Amino acid sequence: MARRKIGVIGGGFVGSTTAQRLAERELGDVVLIDIIEGMPQGKALDLAQSGPVEGYDCTLAGANDYSALAGADIVVITAGIPRKPGMDRADLLRTNGEIMRSVIDGTKRHAPEAILVVISNPLDIMCWAAHRLSGLPRERVVGMAGVLDTARFRTFIAQELNVSVKDVQAMVLGGHGDSMVPLPEYASVSGIPLQQLIPKERLQALIDRTRHGGAEIVNLLKQGSAFYAPSASAVAMVESILKDQRRLLPCCCLLDGEYGIRGTWVGVPCVLGANGVEKLIVLDLAKDELAALRASADGVAKGQKQLAELMKL
Ligand code: APR
Repeated sequence: MARRKIGVIGGGFVGSTTAQRLAERELGDVVLIDIIEGMPQGKALDLAQSGPVEGYDCTLAGANDYSALAGADIVVITAGIPRKPGMDRADLLRTNGEIMRSVIDGTKRHAPEAILVVISNPLDIMCWAAHRLSGLPRERVVGMAGVLDTARFRTFIAQELNVSVKDVQAMVLGGHGDSMVPLPEYASVSGIPLQQLIPKERLQALIDRTRHGGAEIVNLLKQGSAFYAPSASAVAMVESILKDQRRLLPCCCLLDGEYGIRGTWVGVPCVLGANGVEKLIVLDLAKDELAALRASADGVAKGQKQLAELMKL
């Protein structure tokens, strides 16, 4: 079988860590693209030179020009300005929207068939922009948010119960931000419903911490934002697509009437396979959870509209 080719746009913290994880899992040949001259080339060379030690066998290349993307099966988009302490996601809107315009211009020209995995923030709105600018069918654009949010929730649950993270499952819906909708009744530890293991108030504290998980790290780091868990989450999605694993993961998808929401990008459970988003799963939510999901989607819809005006789309 021919080797797969994976493009990673943005060679900063998230992009370079993504490239490293992709190489270490030998998911394909990796091309790292950034606008900073020499940086993606230098990082790709450094990663390539880790291959003999780590024992991975794939080609790593860096470039400033999108022509290096030619033939890519999948493109992970991390280009953007990260959130700074005290900075709201909305502040990033215009800058990252224009960055997305140039990224999609490059992918359209050189890898028009590639599935796009968006990580850049504000995530849900950047998914909208990537989809709108690329003209791709909705199943070929997918955003990374829910996998990260559930990973955070699972970590806090495992720490609370002092059990292995491997046995903890969870589901988080909604927009990537304060309006996310964690679903405690869908969380379990080896099949045991979480509500039987953690008292209500403690569970609420874990949910609140999950909701502000990104900000907690931003505040600790003082500059930049999380990148280890975001890159791990993106690579899980890429792996499910490239290996057609059909994992059921919460991802940011374009809804077309599901959950009574249309035309908005929001986190829902979906099946990720060779064609991208193979299937959206519509859960039978409690009334207040559905209301919370719709409220979260309303917030995203406003952002989409605002960006459409800012970018004249
Ligand atoms: N094309 C390619 N790369 C670009 C472009 C562009 N048009 N514009 C900016 N970049 C690059 C920057 O040069 C920088 O190297 O994107 C990279 C972003 O890297 P970091 O600043 O290190 O940010 P990072 O922590 O990787 O976060 C990237 O992911 O989680 C989100 O909120 C985060 O939106 C941010 C993104």
